[in-house]
Amino acid sequence: METVLSGIRPTGNLHLGNYFGAVKNFVKMQNENNCFFFIADYHSLTTHPHPENLQQNVKQILVEYLAAGIDPEKVTLYAQSDLPETAELYLILNMNAYLGELERCASFKDKVRQNPQNVNAGLLTYPTLMAADILIHRADKVPVGKDQEQHLEMTRLFANRFNRIYEVEFFKEPQAYNYGDNLVKIPGLDGSTKMGKSTGNALFLNDEPEIIRKKVMKAKTDAGPTSMNQEKPQEIANLFTIMQHVSTKDTYQFFNDSYNNCSIRYGDMKKQLAEDIINFCTPIREKINELSANDEYLNKVRAMGAEKAHESASKTIRAVREIIGFKN
Ligand code: TYM
Repeated sequence: METVLSGIRPTGNLHLGNYFGAVKNFVKMQNENNCFFFIADYHSLTTHPHPENLQQNVKQILVEYLAAGIDPEKVTLYAQSDLPETAELYLILNMNAYLGELERCASFKDKVRQNPQNVNAGLLTYPTLMAADILIHRADKVPVGKDQEQHLEMTRLFANRFNRIYEVEFFKEPQAYNYGDNLVKIPGLDGSTKMGKSTGNALFLNDEPEIIRKKVMKAKTDAGPTSMNQEKPQEIANLFTIMQHVSTKDTYQFFNDSYNNCSIRYGDMKKQLAEDIINFCTPIREKINELSANDEYLNKVRAMGAEKAHESASKTIRAVREIIGFKN
C-alpha cells in the first residue's frame, strides 16, 4: 500500500481551488492508501498570525477536512505542530539546502515581490519544511495543485541529496498524485489565473448562497464574442474552467456552444454558475456548521491524529539520527 501525504496552510477558509486542486481526491485516496493529511500550522507562522487567529484557523481547516468527507479513522489527520519530529527533520535538511536554490524558488520570489518588508528565513526555507513534512512519513505520493509542483521537485532534490551524502537508499522520491489527470489550477473570479485565500478572488466552501451569487455576478467579463469560435480571453476562460468543475457536462456544453456561436449572455451563464456552485457547496457548508459546534469531537480527532502521526514519524527520525551519526 502506498503512503499519501498532503497539507494545507491554515491561513483562511478552504476555497474551490483547494478543493479541486487537492481535497477532492482525498476521499478516494483514503480508501486505497495509507494517508496522512495535516494542517500546516508551522508554515503559517511566516506571516506572524495572532495566537487566537492561528488557533481559530487550525480548527477551521480541521473542520473543513472532515466536512469534505475525510474519515479520521481511516487516515491520519493531524496538526503539523503536534509533530515536532517534523521540525527536527527540517533542521537536519536545512544543513544541506543551499541559499541559491532556495532563492530561486518561484514561490519565494513571489513572496519577496509581494511583501518586501517580510522576507524572513522561514519563507526562504519553506521548501525544506515542506520536504520534511513529506519525508517524515516517507510518502510515495503527494496530491497537490499545480502551484506546488516546484516544491515537490525540491523535496526530491533534498531526498536524493540526503541519500547521496550518507550513501543510503533511505528516502523515496515522492511524486505528485492526481489520479493520472493533469494537476489542477483553479482560477480566480478577478481574471487572474489562480484562486487564492488572500487575494480577494476566492469562493470559499462555507460561503453563504447570497455571497456566492454576489461574487459570481461581480466576476470580470468582457463585451462578448464578436466572431465565431473566437479564443476566450482569460477572464472568460476562467469562468468556463470553474464551470467545468461544478456544473454538468450538458450545462458546460450549452454555454460553450453559445460562446462559440456568439449568442452567449454572460448574465445567464453567471446565474447558472452561481447556482451550481451553491449546490456543490451547500452540503459541505452545512457539515462545516455542524462540526464547528462539536469541540469535544474535534479535540478527540486531533489527539488521535497526533498519536498516529507520531508513531510513523518517530520511526523515521530514529533512523535518520542513526544515519547521520547521532546515537539514539
Ligand atoms: P495551500 O494551503 O496554499 O493549498 C492547499 C492545497 O490546495 C492547492 N491549491 C490549489 N489547487 C488548484 N487551484 C488553486 N487555485 C489552488 N490553490 C491552492 C495547493 O496546491 C495545495 O495542494 N505549501 C502548501 C502546504 C503544505 C504541503 C506540505 C502540501 C505544506 N507542507 C506537504 C503538501 C505536502 C500550501 O501552501 O498549500
